[in-house]
Amino acid sequence: MEAELRVRRIHRRDLNRVWEFLKRVFRDVNRETVEYQRPRTKKRFLEVYEEEGVEQLVFEMQEGTRHELVGYAESTFEISGSSDNWMNLRYFERREMRPLFVEELAVHPEYQGRGIGRFMLEQLEHLAKLRGCTHLVLEVAENNQNALVFYKKRAFQKLDAAIFMAKRVAVEPELLPPRRLVASTPEAAQVHASEGSRGESTPPDVPTPAAKPKRTPRKKVSRSDG
Ligand SMILES: CC(C)(COP(=O)(O)OP(=O)(O)OC[C@H]1O[C@@H](n2cnc3c(N)ncnc32)[C@H](O)[C@@H]1OP(=O)(O)O)[C@@H](O)C(=O)NCCC(=O)NCCS
Repeated sequence: MEAELRVRRIHRRDLNRVWEFLKRVFRDVNRETVEYQRPRTKKRFLEVYEEEGVEQLVFEMQEGTRHELVGYAESTFEISGSSDNWMNLRYFERREMRPLFVEELAVHPEYQGRGIGRFMLEQLEHLAKLRGCTHLVLEVAENNQNALVFYKKRAFQKLDAAIFMAKRVAVEPELLPPRRLVASTPEAAQVHASEGSRGESTPPDVPTPAAKPKRTPRKKVSRSDG
């Protein structure tokens, strides 16, 4: 039986399933990226469902009576009112761009590379055209190689978005490294015992001859190169 890929709008009853799906899709991506981690929070995800102007599309594979969730795409025409608005919208206005913001694009890991992402992007582009948008705009981590290759092949170009940079600072560790503990010798043990019996104590920073670290003979290193 031939499998078919279908798209529909999300229902309230899909929310939990889609949330679990998103966590699964981004688990591996998140491990490798410093950029804000996806998906956002479940609270935010549930809020989005109530917001106007957000398109949440569910992609399912249908094979006979079997349905499987294989993709999710979320897009919005305007980013407004939310506290996680990180974009300068004037950037687009000045360039006469009317973007459709792609907030989420996720394909089930076991179904990647089978044309689902392509279908999802075509769907988003179709929506953008119908609504008079001029561009699809999205954010992707620089080291999300699979996604970058995917977008570049489909004519996406980099905007002037931030790049995360890091430089190693030459610092010494605050804590000292481990050191060898002085071996307890029979003489030292005797001295400690007799001092203890006299009830005297030695100031901690004045080494007594018996407490002086004994040098252990260095092990000979055998060299194989002769
Ligand atoms: C990026 C992503 C949406 C692409 O979806 P997809 O269904 O794998 O893409 P398609 O099968 O339509 O296209 C595969 C193409 O994408 C690339 N690709 C991306 N991920 C791939 C994968 N895991 N296996 C094989 N090819 C992959 C290939 O370059 C391939 O080449 P083509 O352009 O010559 O066809 C999907 O891999 C995904 O959900 N990744 C994890 C979540 C993610 O990173 N989302 C984007 C965050 S902004």
